[in-house]
Amino acid sequence: MNQVKKAIIPAAGLGTRFLPATKAMPKEMLPIVDKPTIQYIIEEAVKSGIEDVIIVTGRSKRAIEDHFDKNYELEVNLEEKNKSELLEVVQSITNLVDIHYVRQKEALGLGHAIWCARKFIGNDPFAVLLGDIVIDSEVPVLKQMLDVYNEKNRSVIAVEPVDWKKVSNYGVIDGEKINDQLHLIQQLVEKPKVNPPSNLAIMGRYILTPQIFDILESVKPGVGGEIQLTDALQELADVQEMYSYIYNGKLYDVGSKLGFLQATVEFALKSDEVSETFEEYLVDYLKDRYYTMKN
Ligand code: G1P
Repeated sequence: MNQVKKAIIPAAGLGTRFLPATKAMPKEMLPIVDKPTIQYIIEEAVKSGIEDVIIVTGRSKRAIEDHFDKNYELEVNLEEKNKSELLEVVQSITNLVDIHYVRQKEALGLGHAIWCARKFIGNDPFAVLLGDIVIDSEVPVLKQMLDVYNEKNRSVIAVEPVDWKKVSNYGVIDGEKINDQLHLIQQLVEKPKVNPPSNLAIMGRYILTPQIFDILESVKPGVGGEIQLTDALQELADVQEMYSYIYNGKLYDVGSKLGFLQATVEFALKSDEVSETFEEYLVDYLKDRYYTMKN
């Protein structure tokens, strides 16, 4: 069985939900406390055993490449000032993993972005991690999914039960329940407006077999006129077993303003550097605010 050692991170989106912040800066570079979002995602991949990451970029995404590249000037400066801890932090980013880049020349959808990385993946199974989903968990979610993949040797999609009112924001799966976390997928629907088949929403992590590329080659545009990964997955599920996996962990949809703020507050409350002072501030601030509101 082929091991999963490569991952695709699609990062070509325009980030319209975060304008004006994302006018010149990629949304993947928005920091949660002191690290860009995409770094959390890459760290999850690395901790799961991924050795090569390909980032699918678009226009105005140079900052991502610069972030993972060596910055000689900065390193010399930190060295001269004896800031060895910071120097280590900066160098560790460059040494994290081998990162490659491919451009998606037109924003034709998630399915098309994945297809753009086909030559890099070749005939191997691979992971996909979406940049707007950050998941805090003891065991990295991709690692949890790889355990399923290694047992089944088939595609695995991360899902989470969501409020029925929110189902139409996501790709949704339905299938035969195998246990509390696993389903054998029968149906996948992208952003169903009516009659969603379940409330199990696809949540930004996939392990896929390479047969998906042949399907992506010919899949027709779906919701929003875009080439949807979910539509291609339905075709794959029709000919090859595919599993959904309800992961252990807490998800932050950092592509939404509320999710981004929740991640910022909760990650700050866990940070070695600022947790104590931040918590004190937060408690005092909220006490004052409620006191003022009541009086
Ligand atoms: C994409 C996928 C969708 C999935 C969602 C969250 O949609 O197409 O199936 O549920 O990510 O992972 P987007 O949020 O990019 O529109």
